[in-house]
Amino acid sequence: MGKRHPQTDAIRLQQRTNEKEHSAPLFLTSSFVYDSAEDMAAAFADDSLDVNIYSRFSNPTVDEFIAKVAALEGAADGIATGTGMAAVFSTFMTFLSKGDHILSASAVFGSTHTILTKYLPKWGFESSYFDMNKPETIEALIQPNTKLLYVETPSNPGLDIIDLEYVGAICKKHNILFVVDNCFATPAVQQPIKFGADLVLHSATKFMDGQGRVLGGVVVGRKDLIHDLYLFVRNTGPSLSPFNAWVLSKSLETLFIRMDKHAENALQLAKKLESNSKISWVKYPYLPTHPQHAIAKKQMSNGGAVVTFELKGGIESGRKFLNALQMLSMTNNLGDSRTIASHPASTTHSKLSVAEKKAVGITDGLVRVSVGLEHIDDIIADIEQALEKC
Ligand SMILES: Cc1ncc(COP(=O)(O)O)c(C=O)c1O
Repeated sequence: MGKRHPQTDAIRLQQRTNEKEHSAPLFLTSSFVYDSAEDMAAAFADDSLDVNIYSRFSNPTVDEFIAKVAALEGAADGIATGTGMAAVFSTFMTFLSKGDHILSASAVFGSTHTILTKYLPKWGFESSYFDMNKPETIEALIQPNTKLLYVETPSNPGLDIIDLEYVGAICKKHNILFVVDNCFATPAVQQPIKFGADLVLHSATKFMDGQGRVLGGVVVGRKDLIHDLYLFVRNTGPSLSPFNAWVLSKSLETLFIRMDKHAENALQLAKKLESNSKISWVKYPYLPTHPQHAIAKKQMSNGGAVVTFELKGGIESGRKFLNALQMLSMTNNLGDSRTIASHPASTTHSKLSVAEKKAVGITDGLVRVSVGLEHIDDIIADIEQALEKC
């Protein structure tokens, strides 16, 4: 047989015990036993040995989840964490030393922005931002101490997109670690390693789970880099629970068909909203009007599940819109089978200054819709009736 397709790996990569179970088992255990004192001593003596010791270090269910994500992203290895933020923070702490500089896109998730600006400076790490819409400015912002370049594409919630191949080449030229948060696209839609990323990380809480049940994070990349991350996670403890890993691994079996359907619904919604008189613009990577549409077509196999639009009436309209929704969920999560609407300016990002909001692409009337798997006519009907009321 030739090389298997990622769709098949997402379903078939699994271990089987002597019980011959069909569906993957859950190893809900904190530690593992040894046949002899010598085996136990050997396990502790060499941390490169492939042996389970304690579930903070490794666990077969967690390993199955990691193996699937690594296969889907085209990575050699990976490490799982308890949340997406633990994946981001562990990556920074593992690869940065005092005095190092991170160059990051300004349009990054709010908590990533907080880590960069509030916590990292406490330990002597520097960071600065570049504008995702001006990739030509990146090279001039690289400093002699720049160690890591960080992007999210598409970004949350602005849906900005950057050319991964272009940034990958710059990082290679300057010997900088290129880290991509691939949470919005998922490996079913975009594989940043193909375009030069060294490490790819995820909030598995989102589309990987896909039903809004558990938190999780994962980082994949080259074996040597992952080994360093493994030692950090093993010793500091932001590890993924086996139960959550089991839920996430089962969910990956349906990732590809879910992402196809999410994207089909999202494109239909985006097209429909373009002609609505209550809206000034609609943004979706696979709409030709998206400023980076050509790049989206080059590096993403579909436009993903998130659509944003701008209500003409600003903040007040945003509140009215959310209150008028009858079926869509009002929650800050995304990547669920249920369609979710949020209004960042009056909720998640209300504490940001005007300049900070501008930097991450948040305007007063911005609505973010994480398009779910319900019948598209029902999603459109609920959004249209809520728009009528604002
Ligand atoms: C793009 C992105 N990265 C990281 C995170 C953080 O993930 P978690 O909530 O699993 O810690 C999120 C959460 O919304 C996100 O949207």
